[in-house]
Amino acid sequence: MNKNAGIVGLGVCVPEKILTNFDLEKMVDTSDEWIKTRTGIEQRHIADENTFTSDLASKAAINALEDAGIKPEEVELIIVATITPDMFSPSTACIVQHKIGAVNAAAFDLNAACSGFTYGLTVASQFITSGYYKNALVIGAECLSKITDWKDRNTCVLFGDGAGAVVLKPVDEGRGILSTHLGADGSIGKHLTVPSLALEPQELEKRDPENPRTIWMNGSEVFKFAVKIIADATLAVLEKINLNIHDVDAIVPHQANLRIVDGAAKRLKFDNNKIFTNLQKYGNTSAASIPIALYEAVKSRFIKNDDLIVLVGFGGGLTWSSAVVKWYK
Ligand code: UT7
Repeated sequence: MNKNAGIVGLGVCVPEKILTNFDLEKMVDTSDEWIKTRTGIEQRHIADENTFTSDLASKAAINALEDAGIKPEEVELIIVATITPDMFSPSTACIVQHKIGAVNAAAFDLNAACSGFTYGLTVASQFITSGYYKNALVIGAECLSKITDWKDRNTCVLFGDGAGAVVLKPVDEGRGILSTHLGADGSIGKHLTVPSLALEPQELEKRDPENPRTIWMNGSEVFKFAVKIIADATLAVLEKINLNIHDVDAIVPHQANLRIVDGAAKRLKFDNNKIFTNLQKYGNTSAASIPIALYEAVKSRFIKNDDLIVLVGFGGGLTWSSAVVKWYK
């Protein structure tokens, strides 16, 4: 019988440098009060000019492998979820493979923005469940500071850099990843964009022409989408295995805004105290936010063995993704 994939190792890496709301007050027309009341964010970690996504991803990966007791050369698959790859090619996953010495692993990147980690978890778990691979490393890693317009107060107060990694292996029935759910709606992708090769006029006009390859977001549209989709994606992934919201011990959502979390909790009629948040310290780290939050939720014993947890992401694409995990490590 096929086995579930379970998370058997966790690791994180965030850059040392901290940028506080008070630092931002000196850079753009904003205030600590505005940022805290509108988002909950108090500070974020920012990579120095010589540190890139693969550096953070590699350190998080090594920590996760140590936690799982697996040697780099035993790793069979590496997926890096990111929208800030070091290069178009090689993929960040290939750079990480080389940096950590995972010489026997297949490696590729996955772009589903802030939903990327749970997308990656879903893809990797198919390889484990089918028996194709015996283990996989799934990493969410970003250097968003490198694509931030530091003159745009609408976005520069929101984002941070970081990486989180997990190791997946087959686990006993009833444990690990029980269900996943993925979705996308490209027709509303225009609300959150980062140009690459194509610099279309409608994208150029929203940005500083001197620095056009930066994040632009229609915050209020993404906000409304996020509140609805967290609730919908949570219910959809539970429904697939005939569970409901009352069965859930904890939710670890993508960390974008405390008001989004509050709105989703109300919609789900779910106790806010059972939703883990740490965006106060890290801001929105896109694909890295769920694995960093999961790591801290486990270390702080917010999540304990045998808890039923839901991971739920939403973001650029627009995309969404969710997973039900029976936690056991
Ligand atoms: O991870 C990917 C998904 N991203 C998200 O989930 C983010 C979703 N969106 C949000 O979290 C919120 O929409 C924001 C935090 C981005 C914005 O909050 P909001 O309550 O939707 O504010 P708003 O965009 O409606 O702006 C309200 C006011 C505006 O001023 P006026 O036009 O009312 O005079 C903005 O110019 O706040 C102003 N504003 C700021 N003021 C001080 C916008 N950014 C700032 C700022 N400091 N940093």
